[in-house]
Amino acid sequence: MRKKEIRVALIGHKFMGVAHSNAFRNLSMWMNLPVKVSMKCVCGEDSEENLSIFAERFGWESWDPDWRRVVQRNDIDLVSIATPNFLHKEIAIEAARNGKLIICEKPLSNNLSEAREMLDAVERADIRHCCGYTYRFTPSLALARQLVAEGRIGRIYNVFVRYAQDWISDPNFAMVWRFDKKIAGSGPLGDLSAHSIDATRFVTGLHFKEVSGNLQTLIKERPLDSAKPSGSKGSVTVDDVAQFLVNFEEGATGCFESTRLATGRKNYNTIEVNGEKGSIFWNFEEQNSLLFYDNQRSPKESGFAKINVTHDMHPYNGGWWPQGHGIGYADSFVIEFGLFIKSILENAAFNPDFRDGMECQKVLEAIEKSSVTRTWINLSQI
Ligand SMILES: NC(=O)c1ccc[n+]([C@@H]2O[C@H](COP(=O)([O-])OP(=O)(O)OC[C@H]3O[C@@H](n4cnc5c(N)ncnc54)[C@H](O)[C@@H]3O)[C@@H](O)[C@H]2O)c1
Repeated sequence: MRKKEIRVALIGHKFMGVAHSNAFRNLSMWMNLPVKVSMKCVCGEDSEENLSIFAERFGWESWDPDWRRVVQRNDIDLVSIATPNFLHKEIAIEAARNGKLIICEKPLSNNLSEAREMLDAVERADIRHCCGYTYRFTPSLALARQLVAEGRIGRIYNVFVRYAQDWISDPNFAMVWRFDKKIAGSGPLGDLSAHSIDATRFVTGLHFKEVSGNLQTLIKERPLDSAKPSGSKGSVTVDDVAQFLVNFEEGATGCFESTRLATGRKNYNTIEVNGEKGSIFWNFEEQNSLLFYDNQRSPKESGFAKINVTHDMHPYNGGWWPQGHGIGYADSFVIEFGLFIKSILENAAFNPDFRDGMECQKVLEAIEKSSVTRTWINLSQI
């Protein structure tokens, strides 16, 4: 595709809306792309006044609270979806019908059948698509993938993956959309473990064969209003803790947990991979480094080495900083969107796309099914 300008609309203007806005504003510069990214319109479920304040602050030319109107605009090339999960399908399918390029936040959808419909819609419309598994664009995670691909840890035996936060440990933290299954699909399963599943696929290349899941809701009711903890309550209809065991096609095993009740853990997004020749340990809270254990070294010199991943040894280095000058959370979105747009300009492959989103959704669905039936579920049954 030869384009001088990509005109963007963003649907959603809160947490991810800010991350996306920052990325669109900066990616041409940081990723050195020969294209102008025009921030045409932002959409959110909010008052005209609040949307206009957001638009002015983050550099959007216009705003509109009606996403249907926005995705039909002729002056939009790319639609970026940063809404609660239940809206992803409807917006993405409508955007595909209108021939837009699409970036859609993770998890791709609320269940597997929606994910399949979305993949089908983008493939039929023959448009390019990205599913927002942003952590792939953290340089240290990309280095982990490189080390595994180069055979530095050899045959993989185990993956041990924990994603833990604590922002809802207080039982009086009030109801938000993330506790409603109809809106969110699931709790930490789709919110956090979805990232862990994608990170495992990305780093190891292993294929999920069968899972055994344990989903539990520990705080079943929460106040509707945090200022009135003893007032009316709402029911939490999603998991609070998602745990699952995995057997991979290649013979390796996996042990996963995610929770938002891990008091003291803020964004402890981790993955450890143990292989015949070594191990790696990645922790997003220390995103500018990676731990690597090389089993080929003599016992006197062995131990986990902390690699400083800030310069020319990772695939996203171009245009960033000299060694020791780390990058931050917002930068991974700049890299993600920059590489997505670059792949469109160069007609090259890009991952993660909706197929990756659908593959992840398949694992999530198997875990849910396993947790309900209390049996192992083979992904071929899904
Ligand atoms: N990539 C990541 O690491 C990451 C991190 C956080 C969230 N997410 C994903 O991003 C998505 C959004 O999460 P968030 O934390 O930004 O949520 P949020 O609650 O902070 O924001 C949701 C946005 O959607 C808008 N919205 C809701 N209903 C709408 C409607 N009918 N029309 C237009 N806009 C509407 C809201 O106005 C708001 O701007 C979710 O799918 C979530 O899983 C991804």
